[in-house]
Amino acid sequence: MSMVRIGPYTLPNRLVLAPMAGVTDRPFRALCRRLGAGLVVSEMVTSDTRLWHSRKSRLRLLHADDPEPRSVQIAGGDPRMLAEAARCNVELGAQIIDINMGCPAKKVCNKAAGSALMRDEALVAEILEAVVKAVEVPVTLKIRTGWDHANRNGLRIARIAEDAGIAALAVHGRTRADLYQGQAEYDTIAAIKQALTIPVFANGDIDSPEKARQVLDATGADGLLIGRAAQGRPWIFREIEHYLNTGKRLPAPSLEERERILLEHLTALHLFYGEEMGIRIARKHVGWYLASLPGAREFRAHFNRLDTTDAQSAHVRQFFAERHDEVEGVAA
Ligand SMILES: Cc1cc2nc3c(=O)[nH]c(=O)nc-3n(C[C@H](O)[C@H](O)[C@H](O)COP(=O)(O)O)c2cc1C
Repeated sequence: MSMVRIGPYTLPNRLVLAPMAGVTDRPFRALCRRLGAGLVVSEMVTSDTRLWHSRKSRLRLLHADDPEPRSVQIAGGDPRMLAEAARCNVELGAQIIDINMGCPAKKVCNKAAGSALMRDEALVAEILEAVVKAVEVPVTLKIRTGWDHANRNGLRIARIAEDAGIAALAVHGRTRADLYQGQAEYDTIAAIKQALTIPVFANGDIDSPEKARQVLDATGADGLLIGRAAQGRPWIFREIEHYLNTGKRLPAPSLEERERILLEHLTALHLFYGEEMGIRIARKHVGWYLASLPGAREFRAHFNRLDTTDAQSAHVRQFFAERHDEVEGVAA
């Protein structure tokens, strides 16, 4: 298997944590890296540097201590502003700049950014050329397969990207109009991979080791981006990596290990965000981790009313202690 290279960086494996605003913060990125992601992409940072003083933006910009290579995503619709944002992010420690043309969020798209840009191919070229020229580091791009089913211009955008000097491309197998509905399709990604020489990453609905194998085979892609399936399940990277290498499934993590990982994640969130914000952000992550375990719904309703970090950690411990007892009860 050939190694994936992005500019001067050789990735340790082919698996990338997809950028997810509000999810892939520094604590989550660090955890996914430790559990097998070959690359993580930080949350989108607005290209409008005037907004960088907000607490939320400042926390997103803190990436100097992240493991290398540090990829930071920018979004926007103005070539000059995006070039400036890329330069600023590099000064702040970014080693790869990723441009978001894949996100259908209203907040992003109404300002003619994210996947809305794919409608204007001339503007896409202008943006990519401006950003590539602005920084010495590799610039990567994330797109969807097109604007809608009648305008599936992902292949043309991909060629524009390669011509502009983009170092790697990630393609989510849906159009902008699909939002997150229906199933991702991989034929367009396969066509894009065929047409380009730069590394292509396939993305969309990869939620198991078997699906990862299937998507790699169907697209010929160099690597995979995994988003929602990593929520509450950061060990999916090592599971996929193991399966791709051996054809065999790793056993699911034990309850003990899940508890250890979740408590570690919880503490990291509390430390990173501080008490008030940390408690709020921890709620959704804890919900994702426990979703598949019995009793999770009742626990969640109770957990979401807790208002100190200590209480959150103690309740997670208690939840697992009760599950351990149940398992032991069954064994005995
Ligand atoms: C909550 C959430 C936030 C997202 N934020 C971003 C973002 O900031 N930038 C981006 O390029 N894509 C964003 N995406 C899209 C993901 O990167 C990915 O393309 C999409 O979820 C499909 O992959 P999946 O099926 O593995 O989740 C977001 C997705 C979700 C669910």
